[in-house]
Amino acid sequence: MLSETRDLSAPRVARPRRYLMCPPAHFKVTYSINPWMDPAKPVDLPLALAQWEDLRDRYRALGHTVELLEPRPDLPDMVFAANGATVIDGRVLGARFAHPEREAEAAAHLDWFRAHGFTEIHEPSHINEGEGDFAVTASYLLAGRGFRSSPLSHDEAQEFFGRPVIGLDLVDPRYYHLDTALCVLDDSADEIMYYPDAFSPGSRAVLARLFPDAVIASAEDAGALGLNAVSDGLHVLLPQGAVGLFSPLRERGFVPVGMDLGELLKGGGSVKCCTQELRV
Ligand code: ARG
Repeated sequence: MLSETRDLSAPRVARPRRYLMCPPAHFKVTYSINPWMDPAKPVDLPLALAQWEDLRDRYRALGHTVELLEPRPDLPDMVFAANGATVIDGRVLGARFAHPEREAEAAAHLDWFRAHGFTEIHEPSHINEGEGDFAVTASYLLAGRGFRSSPLSHDEAQEFFGRPVIGLDLVDPRYYHLDTALCVLDDSADEIMYYPDAFSPGSRAVLARLFPDAVIASAEDAGALGLNAVSDGLHVLLPQGAVGLFSPLRERGFVPVGMDLGELLKGGGSVKCCTQELRV
């Protein structure tokens, strides 16, 4: 058997999570570093804030802990907190951003971790955009490359976390981060959903081999950024426009929760991008 599988008769259970989020107080689209970003399109900031608060409140209502990172006026993409680090077993792998516009976010995250009692912190030598490109399953650390994170960051992450890294090549610029094309549904059992066309043929074959039972997303659902979702093992919070994913998730015993993060979509991110999981 290649991967951890799950007893299909066992009920789904939510595991309480700890998340790090950053309010979009200074969110705007003034530069374009992914195809979703069009500086000509206005952002409704109060609406962006309300949508983000809705997500934060939803996590709290589900019993999860949400920690907050102080937003900075000079860092409009800071709301996408998933990109600032990767935390597994309390070990923090810092980020190193591909674009200068976001470079300073890495230090802001490291400062937060140092101030909050995290001691095992690794400042990376190679470019990696945190959970944008790293996804944790029971057996693996899935790692995207092609647009942002460097392939060299994969070895660095494997060495630091001591988990087998599976490198995956992203080939479609709309799915520039792994978390725009793949979502871990159950991290105790190697269960994922993904959009095959976002990956190279070889990476697609690897995913099919490791995750034969994955939920496969359609082009429409991927295009609604439906894979930019967060699961606690039972509830799957996902962009509400990804209507085709709701039934397959329900059939597997998950509870899909549609969220409207339409303003943040203008920055190329949604639920998962706004949410960094602190695995302590
Ligand atoms: N505007 C941001 C960027 O292009 C969006 C990041 C989205 N985050 C994510 N985890 N995919 O870097």
